[in-house]
Amino acid sequence: MELGTGRQRGAFDEWVDMMRAWHRELDVHPDPRVELHEKFSDVPAEIGFGRYAGERRWESVSDIPDPKIKEALLRLIVWQGDSEVRAVEQSRALLDCAPTEHDRDRLARHMTEETRHGWQMAYLLVTYFGDEGRAAARELLERRATRGEALLEMFNVKLNWLNVFSWHNWGDRVGKYQLSMFGQSAFAPFARSAVPMLQEEGFHLVIGYQGMQRICAANRVPVELHQRYINQMLAICYDAFGAEVSTSAKRYYDWGLKAAWGNTIEDAERVNQKLRDAFMDEARKLLGLLNKLLPESEKKLYLTDPRFNRKNGPFAQQPYEGPERLPTAEDAAALAEIFRQPDWIAAGQGA
Ligand SMILES: [Fe+2]
Ligand SMILES: [Fe+2]
Repeated sequence: MELGTGRQRGAFDEWVDMMRAWHRELDVHPDPRVELHEKFSDVPAEIGFGRYAGERRWESVSDIPDPKIKEALLRLIVWQGDSEVRAVEQSRALLDCAPTEHDRDRLARHMTEETRHGWQMAYLLVTYFGDEGRAAARELLERRATRGEALLEMFNVKLNWLNVFSWHNWGDRVGKYQLSMFGQSAFAPFARSAVPMLQEEGFHLVIGYQGMQRICAANRVPVELHQRYINQMLAICYDAFGAEVSTSAKRYYDWGLKAAWGNTIEDAERVNQKLRDAFMDEARKLLGLLNKLLPESEKKLYLTDPRFNRKNGPFAQQPYEGPERLPTAEDAAALAEIFRQPDWIAAGQGA
């Protein structure tokens, strides 16, 4: 289903021109397998949770009952859109040094799909949020991850061909959880955007997990070194869910902007925590499966403790005595040597 009027398309066409200029500046060529356009799926007519549960979903900004809710919604869409386009900039340099053609091909598709997600969020901003939305959509393409300007710190992290798989396996998985919750949003156009995005995210998770499987199967990267890069990424992912106890998460839930995992919540201040717990359970299982690919005598990967290296919530800046460490300059140098060996990662299969 496609939405939009001729007049709105005119304003959005300008954004599309800007996006093409952004692609040219990055020297990125859209993957022809990905159609760059907005996509929507059907959602139930009624709001499913929060203060307005049972009422009709909001079709336009004028249906939103409180300007504070509109402001918060605009911010959520901007953050989501920023994450999408910053992800493209963040991985751009890796295209030129991919370990195999298979990996380069997958990354190129990933980058174009993230561009489409940015397109989708810009479409919402331009179509529904007037001048403020148009300005926000323009600014989406003016910031740069390469200048450390991503709104979420996770998109300013420098990637290499080891942690990029962790990044897609864990970071895109955080995106899956967040988008699933936004898919129940009271603002219908945002909710309708989520399912097509989630379908594409599914492939990003495959890229990440299969990459990690291939690293474990080859067993050339020392497990402890791999673990340090996993720690780096998981700590960032834990932060990305927000603080353990959060009044803003409670507000988002109450206002119908972001649902709760499992559709029920006893304490709405803990919706972030519940979502992070679900993510951690899934991550623990995946690490267990990866360990089965390592030789019996080898050390094993483990789930990074949620108290390690946190920047938000009660564990931020607290002393932590566990075994986790972050990657070091020596790790980066060792990794550069490992990348020179063609068999550091097992061959990839599938499209
Ligand atoms: Fe995305
Ligand atoms: Fe993604």
